[in-house]
Amino acid sequence: MTGYQGPQRVLSGIQPSGGMHLGNYLGAIRKFVELQHKYDCFYCVVDMHAITVWQDPAKLREQTFHIAASYLAAGVDPKIAAIFHQSAVRAHAELAWIFNCVARLGWLDRMTQFKDKAGKDKQRASVGLYTYPVLQAADILVYKATHVPVGEDQKQHLELSRDIAGKFNHDFKADDFFPLPEPLIKGPGARIMSLRDGSSKMSKSDGSENACIFLKDDADTMTRKIKKAKTDPEPLPSEPKGLEGRPEAENLVGIYGALSGKSDAEVLAEYGGQGFGVFKPALAELVVEKIAPIGAELNRLEADPAYLKSVLDAGAERASVIADKVVREVKEIVGFVV
Ligand code: TYM
Repeated sequence: MTGYQGPQRVLSGIQPSGGMHLGNYLGAIRKFVELQHKYDCFYCVVDMHAITVWQDPAKLREQTFHIAASYLAAGVDPKIAAIFHQSAVRAHAELAWIFNCVARLGWLDRMTQFKDKAGKDKQRASVGLYTYPVLQAADILVYKATHVPVGEDQKQHLELSRDIAGKFNHDFKADDFFPLPEPLIKGPGARIMSLRDGSSKMSKSDGSENACIFLKDDADTMTRKIKKAKTDPEPLPSEPKGLEGRPEAENLVGIYGALSGKSDAEVLAEYGGQGFGVFKPALAELVVEKIAPIGAELNRLEADPAYLKSVLDAGAERASVIADKVVREVKEIVGFVV
């Protein structure tokens, strides 16, 4: 942090571009729940980010409710934290434009997520996909958020947000107007890997349906996916250093630890020397115990879209009060007539 003196605030967001999975839960939403008791929190469903790649309109609306319902089902309390959809707070888009004029092409050229998502033919990617991290910076800084809970894959985008905040403050001689937001990444679950390939992250867009555990999977599906998870033939080691070079084993031990609150060392003290024939059923039982109740609550909430809409609208109204004020100040700083 710099000398920023404003209130401590948290903002984070999830894209409504597919089903919510165990990686999103452990890397992000679980932290959202803890943080709501410590900070003023803003949790966004980033529908404008989702359309940087094609989204079927009817599905987008459905998935927006799905993400909102997931926040609630996991324990985010809408009376404490603001839950809203990005497109409903127009200050995000307004600030994003101004930030487009602050961020440098060279900074965006370095973004690895664009390279991954654009694939081989980047000429065909949307312009929005390229400036995606600039909109992300606007999401955060339109609330002058000081802390951003995310999984490890968002590290580079958070660095860019800090760079944009720093350059804005510097260029406009607006010392400490924006905080330099701190990513909150550390902790178990920051990087959950695919169940089919320990070297790629668990993702909603994974081609293999067994790679990803969704919060809405029923108990049998979760158990089957874990039983089918790729592993190696060796038994589990008795210490964490024995997991080196065994990414699939490391991932399953990490998931067990993240859900049970135990360190890798504690998990291995219990299961070291055992084969996956013993460990996988224990893991499946734990995943079902922790995730199935969230899935059940999620299904219950999704059956009531009118309630979800009322939560989103109330959240957007609350968020707009802060965001509109910040954008107005930014316009003055930049020299717009306000
Ligand atoms: P998205 O929708 O891809 O992911 C949402 C959150 O889940 C985390 N995550 C994971 N954590 C651990 N293991 C995994 N396998 C895994 N997969 C996903 C992500 O790190 C993220 O925290 N760019 C963001 C959305 C965003 C945003 C923001 C986040 C837009 N504006 C402002 C924070 C602040 C994204 O792609 O999320």
